[in-house]
Amino acid sequence: MILILIGPPGSGKGTQSEKLIEYLKTPHLSTGELFREHISSETVVGCEAKQFIDRGELVPDHVVDNMVAHTLEQPRFESGCLFDGYPRSVPQAEALSQLLYTQHREVNLVLELSVPDSVLIERLLARQRVDDTLETIKHRLEVYGAQTSPLLEYYEQRGKLETVDGQGSIDDVFGRIQAVVNRLKIDISNAEKSNPSTSSN
Ligand code: AP5
Ligand code: MG
Repeated sequence: MILILIGPPGSGKGTQSEKLIEYLKTPHLSTGELFREHISSETVVGCEAKQFIDRGELVPDHVVDNMVAHTLEQPRFESGCLFDGYPRSVPQAEALSQLLYTQHREVNLVLELSVPDSVLIERLLARQRVDDTLETIKHRLEVYGAQTSPLLEYYEQRGKLETVDGQGSIDDVFGRIQAVVNRLKIDISNAEKSNPSTSSN
């Protein structure tokens, strides 16, 4: 299953991913986490990404797309992938779609976590990651609105988008996500029964 979690900074993508990978037994790919690993290992990609991350800007598409394509080659992603924070722009979504096409796969579900800005700011200021200053958080929210939110319409038009209320306790939010994922699993299994030749792994 190819699943994408979309949501503004602090909406709970990382938090809910931890629970979802356990539940679905699907490997997790967070571009933010990959960049933080590159930065702490001082790689070329890390040095390039750091200047953008520190300012709350998106890292250029070609850098992200190459890193994702390279990571997805790992055998552990053959069974599927839970994307967290990727794609984050329409060109990235197009690049992912092309990449999956070459692997005879496609996006099954895009889950949007919806949370008001006031709650996001409160959560992130309490967390205190390096890029969690008030100024950077506000800019990340603007960037989300300008560059990432058009993806919601993009995936809506393709019949892939489900929006989940990301407010409330972590378990409440996960319960809502589980309900959507379980419905999708039933849809996929019914489609495979009616047309076994389209069955995927
Ligand atoms: P990334 O690491 O993806 O950061 P982000 O999108 O800003 O999101 P966060 O990780 O801050 O939030 P989250 O939604 O994961 O929430 P979390 O679960 O942690 O990206 C960082 C940077 O890398 C970007 O700004 C960009 O520069 C670059 N980048 C990454 N991907 C890129 C791409 N594709 N293209 C270009 N650039 C890219 O939760 C937040 C806090 O809230 C936690 O403390 C958590 O405990 C708490 N919390 C979560 N859920 C709840 C709840 N229900 N109730 C109470 N508290 C909660
Ligand atoms: Mg995260």
